[in-house]
Amino acid sequence: MSNLQNNVGTVGGQKIYHSIKDPPLFFVMMRFNVKVVLLFILLIGIFSLLLLYSYCGVESYAYRSNSKYLSLSRLDMQGAEEIECDINGEYVIGCRKEGDEVYLPFSFLHKYFEIYGKLATYDGLERFEWSHSYSKVYHPKQEYDPKGVFMYFENYNVEVRERVKCVSGVEGVPVSTQWESSGYYYPTQIAQFGLSHYSKNLTEPEPRKKVIEDAEKEYAKWFVPTTASVQRLFDKELSSRILKFRTSDNYREGVKLKMDHVLDFVISLNLILSDNSSLSVTLQNRETKDIYNLHYITSSLLITLQDNNVYYGIGSSDEWKKMTRDLIIDLQKGLSYLDKDKSKHKIPRSKLKIVQIVLQGSGALDNLTLSSSEHIQQFYDAAEWFVRNQDGKTGGWEIPVKRKLAAGFRDLQPGWYSSMGQGHAISLLARAYHHSGGDTRYLNAALNGLKPFRVPSSKGGVLATFLNKYHWYEEYPTKPASFVLNGFIYALLGLYDLKVIAPPGEADEAEFLFNDGMDSLRNMLPLFDMGSVTSYDLRHFTIHTAPNLARWDYHATHVNQLLLLHTIDSDPLFAQTAERWIGYMSGKRSAHN
Ligand SMILES: *[C@@H]1O[C@H](CO)[C@@H](O)[C@H](O)[C@H]1NC(C)=O
Ligand SMILES: *[C@@H]1O[C@H](CO)[C@@H](O)[C@H](O)[C@H]1NC(C)=O
Ligand SMILES: *[C@@H]1O[C@H](CO)[C@@H](O)[C@H](O)[C@H]1NC(C)=O
Repeated sequence: MSNLQNNVGTVGGQKIYHSIKDPPLFFVMMRFNVKVVLLFILLIGIFSLLLLYSYCGVESYAYRSNSKYLSLSRLDMQGAEEIECDINGEYVIGCRKEGDEVYLPFSFLHKYFEIYGKLATYDGLERFEWSHSYSKVYHPKQEYDPKGVFMYFENYNVEVRERVKCVSGVEGVPVSTQWESSGYYYPTQIAQFGLSHYSKNLTEPEPRKKVIEDAEKEYAKWFVPTTASVQRLFDKELSSRILKFRTSDNYREGVKLKMDHVLDFVISLNLILSDNSSLSVTLQNRETKDIYNLHYITSSLLITLQDNNVYYGIGSSDEWKKMTRDLIIDLQKGLSYLDKDKSKHKIPRSKLKIVQIVLQGSGALDNLTLSSSEHIQQFYDAAEWFVRNQDGKTGGWEIPVKRKLAAGFRDLQPGWYSSMGQGHAISLLARAYHHSGGDTRYLNAALNGLKPFRVPSSKGGVLATFLNKYHWYEEYPTKPASFVLNGFIYALLGLYDLKVIAPPGEADEAEFLFNDGMDSLRNMLPLFDMGSVTSYDLRHFTIHTAPNLARWDYHATHVNQLLLLHTIDSDPLFAQTAERWIGYMSGKRSAHN
């Protein structure tokens, strides 16, 4: 998306150049050299196998590589002898024998069976904890409520994810780098951002909130240089008092507010800025005393970094704008912008404080607050994005990047729709319609978002039909169809949310699509059961490859989705299947003949 880059803005009359080339070299290399990289990985694989093989022949692999095992064996396995274990006649590892029992190193079992384990100490007693899987099952406490928490999304922190480049200053929603390193708006991710904030609003304690300046009751002590001016005026149009500011044309010195504010790092304000104006917030690391400046500038630039200055463009409209920024997220995304190792730049909230706010150029502000969170505001930022960015004709929210699901499927070309993106958006918009007390812009966007559910994948929609019979809403509308399970159920949830929240007479289409989809799910769910794990999609059926087994977090998502459906649909299939699949997570397997 070219509008995310290239632009320059100004702070204090200084031009800001966006000097960083996008995408970074690393990604360019990857894109053109996928084959070379794969070959390289293959060679490394072969090399390490050879190495392992010869190494094991000479000496115990486990003995060397796992010192924990070594110390256990010294204490508890006196009298144990070393013994070679021949693995399927393919290679040999070092094991222990004590009487008739043989002990295999856990590091080997971990790799061989993909099971997990760690040493843990309780009340001074060390023990080994074995687990078959690593993901969490959420048992719903009550019937699913489309006006309530979405799934268990109160636990999500979408904007913290490494594949989120930053939260756009213009749009107030995250920008993804998952499939395109320069960044793009990904409807599924934006909806998850909004739904997580909505869910947090319902589950977290009340936020702290401090009004800093509202030009009515709270006056901040701005430092105004002689070349600048600040006025508090009544704005007739808004019927509210606002704070107007102007600094001198050479912009050398801004209007400043010194602060010493800790803990609450979400800034929110109504703002209007003329061209070449800016609002900057200075943060300080309380331990190292390092200073960081976050500059919000009138530009369409997405984000850039120069020394300890992070810049976000907030657009350049001459209209009032409600701006809500999590300063910690903004700082972290800024500092890690150029670095592949994102974790390096994590500065805990507790170590930072706000020391200054600076205004430069000219403009006005109102309702300036600092809070511990602004979940509902961020939820509405997402809802507004969906209202603004829907294709009115098709009802879709396009995904502007190419997606290759796997060899054997044709690539999805930029502009494709996803049933999961549509469904999530509908879940979000239905909640916005409810929360806003009936703002029909949200309802209409949600209703319009149903359109692609009737349009076959081959015609730009998200509908696939299994064996000419069962309708399936495709997360990835591939050719041939892929039948991804979790995306389909998320789409069903969106349909359910709208069917429940839409006023009578407007819920019919959502209801029809939901019932039709549930019928498909009931009939097709067994196809995803692999006897000890689940399958992520049905590619083994449509392109005749090996099944694409769901990793444990996706398997847990399947389980969580079925448990949730069980609270709104009495068919015992959902509960029974969920129970069996929970069993798989602790190693249970279907019986064999
Ligand atoms: C949730 O939103 C309401 C406004 O709808 C607000 O009054 C409340 O403080 C918010 N609570 C949290 C935890 O965000
Ligand atoms: C903003 O800055 C640019 C470049 O310095 C200048 O050309 C432009 O006239 C300025 N705009 C305003 C409204 O001052
Ligand atoms: C500030 O908040 C008050 C109260 O919510 C509102 O009436 C006013 O319009 C807001 N100011 C701006 C500039 O939007």
